[in-house]
Amino acid sequence: MAKIVGGIATSHVPAIGVAIDQEKTQEPYWQPIFRGYERSRQWIEAVQPDVAIVVYNDHATAFSLELIPTFALGCAAEFAPADEGWGRRPVPVVPGHPELAWHMAQSLILDEFDLTIVNRMEVDHGLTVPLSLLFGQPKRWPCPIVPLCVNVVQYPPPTGHRCWQLGKAIRKAVDQFAADLRVVVFGTGGMSHQLQGQRAGLINSEFDKRFLDILVNDPHSAAAISHVEYLREAGSEGIELVMWLVMRGALDEQVREVHRHYHVPASNTAVGHLVLENMLV
Ligand code: DHB
Ligand code: FE
Repeated sequence: MAKIVGGIATSHVPAIGVAIDQEKTQEPYWQPIFRGYERSRQWIEAVQPDVAIVVYNDHATAFSLELIPTFALGCAAEFAPADEGWGRRPVPVVPGHPELAWHMAQSLILDEFDLTIVNRMEVDHGLTVPLSLLFGQPKRWPCPIVPLCVNVVQYPPPTGHRCWQLGKAIRKAVDQFAADLRVVVFGTGGMSHQLQGQRAGLINSEFDKRFLDILVNDPHSAAAISHVEYLREAGSEGIELVMWLVMRGALDEQVREVHRHYHVPASNTAVGHLVLENMLV
């Protein structure tokens, strides 16, 4: 049977992708950010996942205000990296895993999570930057990816609690998939940042560090954080953190924290990163 071996949380700042693509990772501004991913890259190389489920948000790239799925599951055989206005990132096409994705669609929808099924979709920095951070610049991505988009762009996004429950349903779906796959779940976005309005540039390290603590050790409390609290404490784009709760819900109640990294700033954002393992694997 398939099993979830671990989870990765990471910010997905687009400028990080630019720094990788333009080979600037050793420059003084970027070096401390990328140093925090070295251990994680060793970890994922050792784990050798067969599939990664990447929970991320589309930033008005594949979807627009004309179509706003709350949860959208990528069931296609591949996903092209999008041109977000500066040309496509020089990264490989993202291979999908249609068998697992369709199994997840069936399991999740019958479990009353009314997902949108996506058979064609371009993927933006929300997905490609975390892949680059963990896998570097390979000719091909080392494993297939199941993309799961969460609407955090247009109010109302799903609650953190709903995202956490979705993670639990994903866990059940993966546990029931017949092939022997080792699966890693990514939760991307965050941490505190606000790209717009009077509070643009907001960073709240105190909130972020507490969130890292409770996400690992007290996920019930993390799942109870309301939209207003995210908005007030972590800024308008801090709401991206609900996607970390999908990842956390897909893991055991108790997890092993393999690695943690926190750095301010990268572009406009506080970068946070966790590598978590299920105990029984
Ligand atoms: C930035 C961060 C994001 O999460 C994003 O989607 C776009 C930009 C930033 O820090 O610039
Ligand atoms: Fe974002």
